[in-house]
This record gives sequence, C-alpha cells and structure tokens, in this order.
Amino acid sequence: MQSRREFHAKLIGSAITFGLIEMLWSRDLFAEDVKPTIDKWMKELVEITRDLRGQKLTDVQFQTKMEDLYKRVDLAELCKLIKLDEVEKKKLPDNGAANFGFDLSKVEGLPANVGFGKQIFGCKKGRSIVPHGHSNMCTGFIILKGKWHGRHFDRMETHKDHYVIKPTIDRKFGPGELSTISDHKDNIHWFLAESDACFIFNVHVIGYDKTIKESSGRLYLDVQGEKLSGGLIKAPKMTSADCHRKYG
Ligand SMILES: [Fe+2]
Repeated sequence: MQSRREFHAKLIGSAITFGLIEMLWSRDLFAEDVKPTIDKWMKELVEITRDLRGQKLTDVQFQTKMEDLYKRVDLAELCKLIKLDEVEKKKLPDNGAANFGFDLSKVEGLPANVGFGKQIFGCKKGRSIVPHGHSNMCTGFIILKGKWHGRHFDRMETHKDHYVIKPTIDRKFGPGELSTISDHKDNIHWFLAESDACFIFNVHVIGYDKTIKESSGRLYLDVQGEKLSGGLIKAPKMTSADCHRKYG
C-alpha cells in the first residue's frame, strides 16, 4: 500500500511529465508551422534589409532579426531556389573560396532591387574563406553543405597597421547553422572547410550607415597575431594575397 503522500507525488510527477511531453510536442509542431515558404522567407529578408537601410533597426538589431530569420529557413527549399545542385558541378579553387551568383528574379513578390548582395561560397576540403573584417556592412552565412570550422572576432580597435581583436565564436558548423556580422558585433570571420564540397549561402548589406566613412571592402588581417592581456589579439593588417597565402 502506498501512502496518500506517495500517491500524490506520483500523480504530480506524471502530470509534469505529461505536461512536458505535451509542451515539447506542441513546440515541435509550432516550429514546423513557422517555417515560411522560401518566397515568403526571401520577402522577410528584403523587409528587414529595408528597415536597416531606413534606420528603423540598428545594425545589431538587424543582426538579431537576421539570425531569427536564418534559423527558420527551409534549407532544402533554399538549396533548390539557388540551384545548389548546378553550383556543385563547378570546379572549386585550390586556394581560398569560389563565389557563385544566383538569381532571385523569379521569386514571387520581390522588388527589382532587393537591397542586399548575395552569393554562394564554395571551398574544397582544407581551404578557407580567409580571415577578414568588414566596415559598413552587415552580412550573414547559412551553411548549405559540408563541415566547417567557423571563427568570429570582435574588432575592438583599428590602428594604422593592425587591429585589436577579441575571439567571440570558435566552433564547428554544419548544414543549416548560421552566423552573422555587423560593425558592432562579431565583425571578423574566418571559415575553414573541413570536408569536401563545402558551400555557404551569403547575403550582405553594404553602406547601411552614412556616418561610417571607411570603405566597405574586406579588411584582411592575421588573426593569429600577438596575444595581449584580457584575451585580446594584436592582429596585423594583411593584403589579400598574403592572407590567402597563409590561410587560403
Ligand atoms: Fe565577410
């Protein structure tokens, strides 16, 4: 015979378990539910880009919105839309990354000018999208295929011949995973392909802030520079050629 106390404890325990299962189940359904069609997803990307350019969103707010949207992508549909199967037939370079364009003109309801640049990066195993930062640019990656090692750094200081940077992200990335950049968060990235035929989806919004006077080109740097106190790194500026020689 169990006591009334034991009986109640068991009852509450199973109620909690049942509630938990029910919650997980409904959440999972919900997650499926909110995955928009790829056309709608692209439209949302255009809308948040317009809000960034219209200064309704700060760059860091845009970054958060972009990550939320990227998390809800239907990866299979995205790959189909940008014709990844055709891109995969192309040759990948022996150093650095290739970039391939794709066409969004057939997407229902998009304006002629989407407000962002777009491309697919492709790397052979062991090659990389070399370390670089950006100025006046928000950008985001979604891993389409392959295993990557992704690293991000905050750009804390800019000097004549070097940057002071702080590591922020350093981990493995697989298909469907994402990372983003703005001038104020995770500004530098470096993605190393760790399996054959690695591909990344990229959207970038250049010149969103009229107060930033630096040009929007890539800022190449040696992220394996001198270690400073507080986990900071003194990272010398590099040319693209030198950066590709060391990291490509
Ligand atoms: Fe970049």
